[in-house]
Amino acid sequence: MKPPISSFRKSKLEGRRLATLTAYDYPTARLLDDCGLDFLLVGDSLGMVVLGHPDTTQVTMADMIHHTKAVARGAALTPVVSDMPAGSCEAPDLALENARQLRQAGADAVKIEGGREILPAIERILADGIPAIGHLGMLPQQVVVEGGYHIKGRNDAEAERLQADAAALDNAGVGAIVLELVHPPIAEAISRTVSCPTIGIGSGDTCDGNILVLHDLIGLFPWFRPKFATPRADVSAEILRAVHEYVAAVTR
Ligand code: KIV
Repeated sequence: MKPPISSFRKSKLEGRRLATLTAYDYPTARLLDDCGLDFLLVGDSLGMVVLGHPDTTQVTMADMIHHTKAVARGAALTPVVSDMPAGSCEAPDLALENARQLRQAGADAVKIEGGREILPAIERILADGIPAIGHLGMLPQQVVVEGGYHIKGRNDAEAERLQADAAALDNAGVGAIVLELVHPPIAEAISRTVSCPTIGIGSGDTCDGNILVLHDLIGLFPWFRPKFATPRADVSAEILRAVHEYVAAVTR
């Protein structure tokens, strides 16, 4: 049976760190299902590493539903969390309608980028009984507006905003908060203050857990590797080796 998203808060109390990865398709979900991961994120990073867009901003609800269904078919034991894509939470009613669609597609929870500005949407989703995970710091859906991926929380104003946003999401009852590219001392301070677990990505190693894009971990997207991600395999090299061997065998 899948553990409920609400159990993440208990894990934090017990001092157990959360390990999570992205997954976008059935075979990956099925392979990862029995690896002790706390959840599989159908991230809108699929726009980049699966669909070939320059960033996540063009990912649609239809894309998220399609990939959530595939991952849900492979994940029998591990909770599936799906990203609410850009534009899907602009009003609380719209957010709820979209969260319900991701639930129907097989998501156990949804993840939403943003702080107090999207609190009404998060509250509406939670009130409907749909578990939600927050996402603060560098928000990839804002990359075009912000002109790149920048570390957040280096100045006092940003640090205070992040801490207030994290407190608001925590009080609303999110299951966890992803902290992306947050200045490590601020990520540590937030992790100490909130009672839900924080899940870091490029935010140092003091969060209550960690998340990576699977492709960065296994070397499946060689054209861009974030500095904070340590690859532990080189799957693209292995694919090329097998294909070259196959072509040579067929054409010899
Ligand atoms: O879309 C995604 O993969 C994410 C993670 C990087 C946290 O949001």
